[in-house]
Amino acid sequence: MPPTRVCIIGSGNWGSAIAKIIGKNVQRSNRFDPIVKMWVFEEIINGKKLTEIINKDHENVKYLPGHKLPHNVVAVPDTVEAATGADILVFVLPHQFISRICDQIAAHMKPGAFGISLIKGVDEGPEGLKLISDIIREKLKIEVSVLMGANIASEVADEKFCETTIGCKNEKHGQIFKELMQTPNFRITVVDDCDTVEICGALKNIVAVGAGFCDGLNFGDNTKAAVIRLGLMEMVAFAKLFCRGSVSIATFLESCGVADLITTCYGGRNRKVAEAFVRTGKSIEELEKEMLNGQKLQGPQTSAEVYKVLKQKNMVDKFPLFASVYQTCYEGRVVQEFISCLQNHPEHM
Ligand SMILES: NC(=O)c1ccc[n+]([C@@H]2O[C@H](COP(=O)([O-])OP(=O)(O)OC[C@H]3O[C@@H](n4cnc5c(N)ncnc54)[C@H](O)[C@@H]3O)[C@@H](O)[C@H]2O)c1
Repeated sequence: MPPTRVCIIGSGNWGSAIAKIIGKNVQRSNRFDPIVKMWVFEEIINGKKLTEIINKDHENVKYLPGHKLPHNVVAVPDTVEAATGADILVFVLPHQFISRICDQIAAHMKPGAFGISLIKGVDEGPEGLKLISDIIREKLKIEVSVLMGANIASEVADEKFCETTIGCKNEKHGQIFKELMQTPNFRITVVDDCDTVEICGALKNIVAVGAGFCDGLNFGDNTKAAVIRLGLMEMVAFAKLFCRGSVSIATFLESCGVADLITTCYGGRNRKVAEAFVRTGKSIEELEKEMLNGQKLQGPQTSAEVYKVLKQKNMVDKFPLFASVYQTCYEGRVVQEFISCLQNHPEHM
């Protein structure tokens, strides 16, 4: 059997952290080709190309400074060159770029190739929401699994213990993904409830914006816990509305569910920017530019996509927390009113 070639599409904060794991794991197993190509969106950093910096110094100085990448991870600026010949494609880039990248590589898929998406977010489709994995499936005609969990990239890169969830319907692929990405400090559980795993990864970012509002408004930990619980209830209700097949509540108890929700509501960038939104009065767009050094926010955009679907289905009232996050970010709703979506939540009526 020829060795399995792996390509990583994306090289931001999470992309670089997972490249560190994948680069090491492929060297330990004789299943994989030891060279891992990583597509890098080319940028000039202090007069030098980011790809050249990564290939010479083995560090993504912009998105994961202070961490060395294994030498067998090779940065490639061209999408087609990166994806050609790959048996496994790992998608890890902000969701707004996925369609364009898939269009570029669609004609170059190796027969039998399959993928996994680490992307948290959703897109708009003609009938409402579209999962990112569905965009990849449709454009590339490959099987796609998902990986989501309580995985703040910098902590994973520091090799601090965490868990993650892979949603995968193909048992053989699930095993290969485990071999590719599991380490003693990055423990993977595979479940077959893929849509739920993926929708959890997108929706928790909306709840995190609500948690950030609480911090900005100096509400205490009790209030934040209420936001997390009510947010989780809305996540479950939305998943039941949206996911194909049955939605298993057990999936919400995996890392992709309650664990990711907690970590994002305490540590993530969506929470941080939402807190600053309250304290500074600046717009979300301004703060994203100012605070994130090129990293992208997911929560506000996901709230807009979800809100559209809820409106179409006449169900805004059933999801007051999601709706309130959207209205506060984009429609000028006064953030001090945020508490009313908790007080008058259907859970309390
Ligand atoms: N960072 C985390 O802690 C974390 C953890 C788990 C999941 N995720 C998810 O992983 C996905 C990727 O996040 P990340 O943290 O790696 O990215 P990021 O937000 O750190 O980085 C932005 C990336 O986008 C690229 N980019 C910028 N402009 C572009 C353009 N015009 N076209 C294409 N690419 C462009 C940059 O090169 C960079 O690689 C997101 O869906 C995120 O929600 C992130």
